Amino acid sequence: MTSTLQSLPWWKQGPIYQIYPRSFLDTNGDGVGDLEGIRRKLDYLKDLGVRGIWLSPIYPSPLADFGYDITNYHDIDPVFGSLEGFRSLVREADQRGIALIMDMVLNHTSHQHPWFIESRSSRESMKRDWYIWKDGRRGLFGRRFPNNWMAAFGGHAWTFDEQSGQYYLHLFTEEQPDLNWRNPEVQRAMLGELTFWLDLGVKGFRLDVINYLVKDAQFRNNPYHFRATYPRRHDLQHHQYDRNQSETYDIIRSLRDLLDSYAGSSEETMLVGEVYPDEGVHAPDLAATYIGDGRELLHLAFDFSPIYTKLTAGDLYSVLNNWYSVLSPQAWPCHVLSNHDQSRASSRLCAGPDSEAKKKLLAALILTQRGTPFLYYGEEIGMVDGKIRRQDLQDPLGKKYYPFHPGRDRSRTPMQWTDGPGAGFTEGKPWLPINPDYRERNVKAQEGDPSSLLTWYKALIHLRQQEAALHSGTIEFIQAGLADEVLAYRRRIGEEEVLVVLNVSGQTRQNPGGRGGRVLLSTHRKSESPIEQDTRLAPWECTVYK
Ligand code: NOJ
Repeated sequence: MTSTLQSLPWWKQGPIYQIYPRSFLDTNGDGVGDLEGIRRKLDYLKDLGVRGIWLSPIYPSPLADFGYDITNYHDIDPVFGSLEGFRSLVREADQRGIALIMDMVLNHTSHQHPWFIESRSSRESMKRDWYIWKDGRRGLFGRRFPNNWMAAFGGHAWTFDEQSGQYYLHLFTEEQPDLNWRNPEVQRAMLGELTFWLDLGVKGFRLDVINYLVKDAQFRNNPYHFRATYPRRHDLQHHQYDRNQSETYDIIRSLRDLLDSYAGSSEETMLVGEVYPDEGVHAPDLAATYIGDGRELLHLAFDFSPIYTKLTAGDLYSVLNNWYSVLSPQAWPCHVLSNHDQSRASSRLCAGPDSEAKKKLLAALILTQRGTPFLYYGEEIGMVDGKIRRQDLQDPLGKKYYPFHPGRDRSRTPMQWTDGPGAGFTEGKPWLPINPDYRERNVKAQEGDPSSLLTWYKALIHLRQQEAALHSGTIEFIQAGLADEVLAYRRRIGEEEVLVVLNVSGQTRQNPGGRGGRVLLSTHRKSESPIEQDTRLAPWECTVYK
């Protein structure tokens, strides 16, 4: 097995940092973050130790779904900057050893995309078959939807187009019509869009809802499965026919071929897929099918189980252990605790007493696992969910289901850089309210503080890059501590072994590690100090030793 960091491709070398560009740094006072803002913070990211940036969508968009509705796949929305600015960003990131990946939305376009405008223009349009058009079924009381599929953002997944007299499919909002991936012209056109970015020096893509691409050829009804959830009929269906069709894997193979042709000898390009299971379901096995052995399908896929877990040693263990056990031995795992769609882990898992200690524990957990950690902007300073008043809501999901669904704005609030006006994010009116805790919780305050979360993140990332066992080794959990709320594991490469012990409780606990050693990094102990086999762990202690 490889043991030097440099011999790994960039996406295995260090964390990938997700930026929600609207909320990162605004440099022109319009209240919305921009590419120039990201460029100015490259040194910050380098210093943090990230090796890649995933940019949430920055393409032109009418914002029905905040950029996940694209009208032009090979341009930048003026609110973020220009292609020229993007080129500088790629170049300057590259100079700092940071790769850029784009968020690529293949399943659907905006309804204002020229392809859809043309497709919609008539049944005879050359691009009619680029989208999914169907006649309604005849019912007792008139026209009925083509089948029972429901949209993730409310209502039926079909909208009737008066002009051409047919329904089109949209698995999200009606402003996001689904493309027909069974049409080879669509496949070619989209590969062309990916090529555009690869030619600009982008090193890969995060593929939005990649498992939705192809739909059942017969458009059969989804079966229902009843359970308590938000009032969305969508969530009461088992999505057997509108996702995960076998042909999707063939399409991913062709995307992979394209990426491989840009990969050079060091696996320089990377695809990471958002594989969405039925709502609330843990499906690491499904995500694993989209990676296979990692050679022809995706390089990485997200397992969202940590989004639905609790902060106990047993829960964390079972989520991680399941993930590793369903992956092929050749596949490379990745881990994610927060993103732009979910409540931040710092709110979801760390609320209540000892919240800062819990955040340190989650950081230690994700940065010492086997595989690539994904960090979400602000996670490194412990940003929490914003409380967004109804009149400030921006997210279509939040607006539609208010007050039953919290929406997604809460995890998209502006980055907290300083305790100054606009939190150092903007000199204008921010597009979403800044979380009032920015006065205490901000990058500037944490940068100079050796006990801050930010300092802890940096130290962990640095350690992960120093220790071959951490970046390239195997992982083996020590079951003995689980009943006692201690999650412990061995990371091994060759003769080297690093132990990670995490006390997932507010009580003093016994170390189940089974041996002593020398501390590499700890929340409670000095680096290089000895640690005894029978040492006791302080509440929420995180210690990595060798
Ligand atoms: C998943 C994305 O993460 C989410 O933000 C978006 O709304 C949907 N896909 C639709 O593109």
